[in-house]
Amino acid sequence: MTSPHDSALVRAARRQPVSHTPVWFMRQAGRSLPEYRAAREGVGMLESCRRPELVTEITLQPVRRHGVDAAIFFSDIVVPLAAVGVDLDIVPGVGPVVAKPIRTRGDLDRLPELTPEHVGYITEAVQLLTAELGATPLIGFAGAPFTLASYLVEGGPSKNHEHTKALMYGDPELWHDLCARLAQISGTFLDVQAAAGASAVQLFDSWVGALPRADYERFVAPHSTAALAAVAARGIPTIHFGVGTGELLPAMGAVGADVVGVDYRVSLTDALARLDGSYAVQGNLDPALLFAPWEALEAKVRSIVEEGKAAPGHIFNLGHGVLPDTDPDVLTRVVELVHEVGQR
Ligand code: CP3
Repeated sequence: MTSPHDSALVRAARRQPVSHTPVWFMRQAGRSLPEYRAAREGVGMLESCRRPELVTEITLQPVRRHGVDAAIFFSDIVVPLAAVGVDLDIVPGVGPVVAKPIRTRGDLDRLPELTPEHVGYITEAVQLLTAELGATPLIGFAGAPFTLASYLVEGGPSKNHEHTKALMYGDPELWHDLCARLAQISGTFLDVQAAAGASAVQLFDSWVGALPRADYERFVAPHSTAALAAVAARGIPTIHFGVGTGELLPAMGAVGADVVGVDYRVSLTDALARLDGSYAVQGNLDPALLFAPWEALEAKVRSIVEEGKAAPGHIFNLGHGVLPDTDPDVLTRVVELVHEVGQR
């Protein structure tokens, strides 16, 4: 039997030749699936993430249904923050809400380092999953320091990140100390998943597109570098993703990523030119296009697959997560099409 470490996903990430373009979707496990809604019935989001059997079932659902080339571990970027004792909840339709935002040096005391013992249920779930998945790779993940800081400093989801930026520009020393702590948490969370058998990891810096490149390099890059360095010794590929990060693509590669995630605002062809052949790319179908007539969707999928063939490595994905009202049959059809036109 082939191994997940020789799968199309891992090979594409390493810029090695593949038999076909691999495909998976951010948020492939979730509300678009009726079997997900049934499994989650009456169980809160954070509580679900602490039940290894439930995590295993929910992670496997989209793999069974769509035949995607990878599983993404079912958890959330705020799970390690809750694990170290931050008082937060994931509110349906809203996102993570933090009871007491972190804005002063004293507040940092409420954010201890993460140890593997804090998240034994993650180790257990990854072990269960990799046993079930066989040759299909499992992607582990964590939130990057900037995106985690945004939730902690704002106290919840934010459009403008005003408190986060006020702290970053107003008290750089505290900002760097906060992000160094978050890099430790993020890196440990990635490493726990890698140690338990994940075949790749993705660092989500969803909201970092809010910064210009020079400030990304000064305030964020050192900490994202530290988070990814925590798994370097495991020898598995790393994917680095953010939304609205067209201007940041080379800088996001340079922090130690093998694959740079591209959202739908920049074409893969333009992204590849900016990345200079040094990285594989992942993306970049607009999730809203899954609601368009099939002919329009099909044309876009075909053109993305063709653009990806010019890349040193391409993993087909959406430009951001699956929207909750997406028809899951459309996702299955996209997987079939990518596999058909992505043959090499
Ligand atoms: O298939 C997968 O991708 C599953 C694993 C996963 C979840 N969250 C499950 C989840 C992953 C990789 C995440 C990462 C995550 N969480 C990010 C980075 C990715 C991105 O979207 O940019 C961010 C920013 C979060 C924070 C967060 N958690 C948000 C914004 C939300 C949505 C709130 C809502 O209800 O609209 C959550 C909750 C969440 N995380 C859900 C799921 C399946 C929904 C909870 C539910 O179904 O009740």
